[in-house]
Amino acid sequence: MIETQISLKEHDESRQGEALLLEGKHDRQNNRKLYIESYGCQMNFADSEIVASILMDNGFETTHDYKSADVVFINTCSIRENAEQRVRNRLKEFESAKAKNPGMIVGVLGCMAERLKSKFLEEEKLVDVVVGPDAYRDLPNLINKVDDGTRAVNVLLSREETYADISPVRLNSNGVTAFISIMRGCDNMCSFCVVPFTRGRERSRDPYSIVKEARDLFEAGYREVTLLGQNVDSYKWDPKDEETSSIDNTITFAKLLEMVAAVNPLLRVRFSTSHPKDITNEVLYSIAKHENICNYIHLPVQSGNSRVLELMNRTYDRAWYMERVDAIRRIIPTCGISTDIITGFCSETEEEHQDTLSIMDYVQYDYAYMFAYSERPGTLAAKRYADDIPEEIKKRRLTEVVSKQRMHSHLRLKEQVGKTHKVLIEGYSKRSDKDYCGRNDQNAMVVFPVDQQFNIGDYVTVLGESCTSATLIGKIVNSETTVGA
Ligand code: 5AD
Ligand code: SF4
Repeated sequence: MIETQISLKEHDESRQGEALLLEGKHDRQNNRKLYIESYGCQMNFADSEIVASILMDNGFETTHDYKSADVVFINTCSIRENAEQRVRNRLKEFESAKAKNPGMIVGVLGCMAERLKSKFLEEEKLVDVVVGPDAYRDLPNLINKVDDGTRAVNVLLSREETYADISPVRLNSNGVTAFISIMRGCDNMCSFCVVPFTRGRERSRDPYSIVKEARDLFEAGYREVTLLGQNVDSYKWDPKDEETSSIDNTITFAKLLEMVAAVNPLLRVRFSTSHPKDITNEVLYSIAKHENICNYIHLPVQSGNSRVLELMNRTYDRAWYMERVDAIRRIIPTCGISTDIITGFCSETEEEHQDTLSIMDYVQYDYAYMFAYSERPGTLAAKRYADDIPEEIKKRRLTEVVSKQRMHSHLRLKEQVGKTHKVLIEGYSKRSDKDYCGRNDQNAMVVFPVDQQFNIGDYVTVLGESCTSATLIGKIVNSETTVGA
């Protein structure tokens, strides 16, 4: 989980046309400027693209500058306490802009809105509108209410909403890679996690709308899509009009992956997040079979100890997790694997922490997101277990996990030196526009000198020559067979 922030890019010309067509229908909203900032998981970033789409269809334009915006939205994350703290600090920064422009509407969207509901309006006087993740279609109406002088809240969760018919407006896009939400919510109830409460019940999106979105992206020049869900392996779609048929027409995640991969061999398909209890060999065989489904799996382990996993309600144990890793290595030998780890969960002993370190040695993850446990109000763990590991012990265990991971990440990259990699050029390297950057199949970041023959969005073959702790460095070789567009 990356806690970064983005702001909106100006929308494209074709969208401006749509806004003009709606003139008259939405008088008050026409030409008003929207600024949106996102925190938390990739799903939140994808949701902000839906929000932008809904508001642009209602006559809004977007801006990078919150000070000149009419509507300022902050799409929030509740996963750990510090994520919420960052949002509150950011809201304070909006205060002076609102003082200068009293007509400015400030809205809180996403998980924090859902968790705190109308309490947010009492706690943060600055906030005019509070909207949960399933209520974004109501935004134009809620903004109207604020215009009429009422502060507005809609935090209703839905069992059906998937925003399947809404074409997200790609924000801060490199024009090459994009996210596609394939499902919403989570039914797993891991005891530490607030997501089932903030994002509601799990529901899968119509697969044909997913394939259409992937095709539209490909036609617009995109070359990589990441299918997003809290637990993609439990994706499931039963065609309603064929309920009586004896043939099993259920679309599983493995089938969905193949449908998206079939859009075009030049479209790379990634996905996140896989759950160790649900990832099937069928999915692994689909990945192995299709050249354009990337050999990379994000498989959160959380802990390497079976007792802690049980307290976490993860519904698998250490042996099960290791067997799933063995299956990945057997079926997709070159697969990159990343994970999420929590240190200092309720009652975790030193020996149990050692089990986390030893499972890391077993898997040698390519990459990991690592966190100290943060108790979240309302979760099963908060109700059942004492948050009894002192903060300094959680942090010390986290430091141990982080330093082991640093070693493994470096090791995994060193293994890739001397080999060739198919890399999709995503843009210029952060450090210099004399270098391109892109990812290989296993999701490693690769940096290599610009070769005038190629453009952003092309595939090239890169020979890995050296690496830092996080990046593979190389040069383009035998390129003529791998041009993308
Ligand atoms: N404390 C710390 N980390 C958490 N995560 C989820 N809830 C918590 C929490 N209460 C981590 C898990 C999850 C990732 C998205 O965030 O590792 O996989
Ligand atoms: Fe939270 Fe577990 Fe669902 Fe992931 S699978 S969102 S950790 S409850």
